[in-house]
Amino acid sequence: MNGSRMTDCLDTGAFRRHAHEVADWIADYFEAVEGFPVRSQAQPGELLAALPSSPPEQSEPMERILADFRRLVPPGMTHWQHPSFFAFFPANSSPPSVLAEMLAAGMAAQCMLWETSPAANELEARMMEWLQELLGLPRGWKGVIQDSASGATLCAALAARERARGKTVVDRLAFYTSAEANSSVPKGARIAGFPLDCIRSVATDERQAMRPGALAKAIEADRAAGLTPACVVATLGTTGTGAMDPLAEIGAICRRENVYLHVDAAWAGSALMLPEHQRLLNGIEHADSFVFNPHKWMFTNFDCSAHFLKDPESLQRSLSVNPVYLRNTRAEQITEYRDFGISLGRRFRALKLWFVIRAFGAEGLREKIRSHIEWAGELAREIEAAQDFERVTGPNLALITWRYAPRDAAPETLDALNERLLKAINDDGRLYLTPGAVGGHRVIRFSVGQTRTEARHVRQAWRIIQEIASSLRD
Ligand SMILES: Cc1ncc(COP(=O)(O)O)c(C=O)c1O
Repeated sequence: MNGSRMTDCLDTGAFRRHAHEVADWIADYFEAVEGFPVRSQAQPGELLAALPSSPPEQSEPMERILADFRRLVPPGMTHWQHPSFFAFFPANSSPPSVLAEMLAAGMAAQCMLWETSPAANELEARMMEWLQELLGLPRGWKGVIQDSASGATLCAALAARERARGKTVVDRLAFYTSAEANSSVPKGARIAGFPLDCIRSVATDERQAMRPGALAKAIEADRAAGLTPACVVATLGTTGTGAMDPLAEIGAICRRENVYLHVDAAWAGSALMLPEHQRLLNGIEHADSFVFNPHKWMFTNFDCSAHFLKDPESLQRSLSVNPVYLRNTRAEQITEYRDFGISLGRRFRALKLWFVIRAFGAEGLREKIRSHIEWAGELAREIEAAQDFERVTGPNLALITWRYAPRDAAPETLDALNERLLKAINDDGRLYLTPGAVGGHRVIRFSVGQTRTEARHVRQAWRIIQEIASSLRD
C-alpha cells in the first residue's frame, strides 16, 4: 500500500488529476479572496501547533496533503491578492503570471547558462528590451532579471566598489543615499563592504526628496577627509511616502564627481509607462543603473526585478567566476547572465513577463496603473475635505499618507491615537494598511495598486476608515 502511494508521487496520471484540482482551487481562490480578512487573523504559533513535530516516515496520499493545505494554510495567510490590500506596496500577481509560473515549475529548468536553457536566456533578453521601451529607459543599456530590488541594489554597490577600487582601498570608499531610502539600500552597501561609518544618509527636503545641495556638500567633505565617494543611490518613489529624488540634479553631481549612480524605482518604475510621468526620468542619462520591480506594480508574481545597466562591465568584473564546467564556446554570440547576480542558479522568470505583457498589452498595463493613480487622487481629495483627518503627503503616484486628527484631540495624543486606529483597522480585516512616519509623527500609508482593486474598493475603504475612527472615540 505504502509502496504504491510512493510511486503515486511520480505517477503522471495522479499528477494530472491533482493539477486540475489545484487549478480549480486557484480559480476559486481568485473568486473568493475578497471574502477573506485581508491581514491574517492568525495568532503566533497557531500553525506550528497544528503541525506534527517530525516528518512522516511513510508516504502520505496527495488527497490528505491537499486537504490539510485547504484547512490550515489560507487562514494563516495575509491575502496580498485581496482587492482591499492597501498596505506596503503591492506584491501583485495576475492569471497570466500564475499560468507562466505553473509552466516554469513544470519544466523546472535551472537557467544559469544559455546552454542550460537557451529559450529562457533569449526570452529574458527580449523581455528586458520590451521593458526598456515601455518605460522609456535609455537604449543600449543591458537588462537582467534579478530576484529583488535588494539584490539589484547590492549589485550596484558591488559594481561601484569595483569601479572605484583602482583608486583606493575599500575601507576609504563612501556611499550616499537619502534618509528616506528603503532599508535594502544601506543594507546592500554594508554587504558590499562599504565601511559603516562611510555610509551617508543625506538630508531630505519638505517633500522627503534627497537634497542635492546636501549630497554635494557630503561628497566634498568626504573628499577633504581623504575618502573616495563611490556610489549614490537615488530613489524614485520612496517606501515611506513615494518621494522622488531629483534625478537631473543628483545625476549632474555624480557625473561631475565621477561617482556611480544607481536609481531605485522598485515601486514607481511601473508608472514610467505613462507618458505623463516620463519626466521623472529626466537625468537618467547620468545614471549607471536602474531597477524596478514588475513583481510590485506590474501584475507579475514575486520574484521578478528588472535591473538595467549602462555598462555591465564593472559588475561582471566584480562577480566573474570561470570554472571549466561553466565555460561555453559561444560567449561572443550570447549574453550569459551568471555574472550579473549573486546566485549561480537562476529561475525562469522571463516567462511570466512574456505572458503578462502580452496578455495585458501595453495599453492594458497603462490603463490599470493610471486608474490606481486616479483613485488615489480621489481619496486624497476626500481626506483633505474631511474635518477630522489630515492628508500628510501625496498623492505621490498612488501613495498617500494621512492621519486621524480630530479637532478636539491634543496634538501630543495623535501618534498614539493613530497607532490605535491602525490596529483597529487591521484587526477588523476588511482592509489592510501599514504605518509610516513623516516629520517625526506617526502617519498611515494608503497605497493603491492591487491587480483586483476597483474604484469601489478604495471608496469602501475610506468609509470603513471613517467608521472605525469614529468608533474609537465613542
Ligand atoms: C523603494 C523600494 N526599494 C526597494 C525595495 C525592496 O524591494 P525587494 O523586496 O524587491 O527587495 C522596496 C520594497 O518595498 C521599496 O519600496
